[in-house]
Amino acid sequence: MILLKTKQEIEMMKQAGQLLASCHKEIAKRITPGISTLEIDQFVEEYLHKNGAIPEQKGYKGYPYATCASVNDVICHGFPTKKPLQDGDIVTIDMVVNLKGALADSAWSYAVGNISSKARRLLEVTKKSLYKGIEQAVIGNRIGDIGHAIQIYAEKHHFSVVREFVGHGIGRVIHEPPQIPHFGAAGTGLCLKEGMVITIEPMLNEGWYFSVIDSDGWTARTADGTLSAQYEHTIAITKQGPLILTDQDGKR
Ligand code: MF3
Ligand code: CO
Repeated sequence: MILLKTKQEIEMMKQAGQLLASCHKEIAKRITPGISTLEIDQFVEEYLHKNGAIPEQKGYKGYPYATCASVNDVICHGFPTKKPLQDGDIVTIDMVVNLKGALADSAWSYAVGNISSKARRLLEVTKKSLYKGIEQAVIGNRIGDIGHAIQIYAEKHHFSVVREFVGHGIGRVIHEPPQIPHFGAAGTGLCLKEGMVITIEPMLNEGWYFSVIDSDGWTARTADGTLSAQYEHTIAITKQGPLILTDQDGKR
């Protein structure tokens, strides 16, 4: 069942989202060759606790860290490690913030030092594809409209859209129905209604979209070893249009 949220619940999720956004802005300042993703994870955990929030991912279905840190060919759910990030890497930091019971979920891909022009294009197209999806998150549209807009844009730029991991409803728990695929046909699927809160979180690959899971049971990589990027926002469907709860002061 899809749980519609009241204005007050959306306001609380926005507060969680704004804390998450400020945390991403702090991460952006710290990402540089030499820092490890475990250091970023520890920073995030402290930052959230200092601000009265909890990293909701830690312990979720046994996931051991506050953040997912997905470097280069890792699509999502990478474990933070002590290995220093290197010049030329790309890394996606994903987290879910729980502020007084209200959740928000946002991932952002970062360039470490100087990256190749192909990696730069992957980041730009992935980010733009997120906003193409968000544009479709309006009352009366269907879930398929979101995925279709993302897929058309990604494939026009010769990147592939990951199929195995999708966006989701979010509220008091991380994953609520409905699922939000980042591919598909326009005009299909459930109708979007006022009060739905969903994530849109496209993962785009340089090569083919197939993934493999490491022996840790979590880390998802591109099967062909090419780069993967991801941007994710939590969005409320409102009469005024899509409200980006994790917006970083309009930064795109
Ligand atoms: N933020 C992730 C998502 O978008 C949640 C990861 S699940 C976890 O769905 F187990 F890693 F926490
Ligand atoms: Co999510």
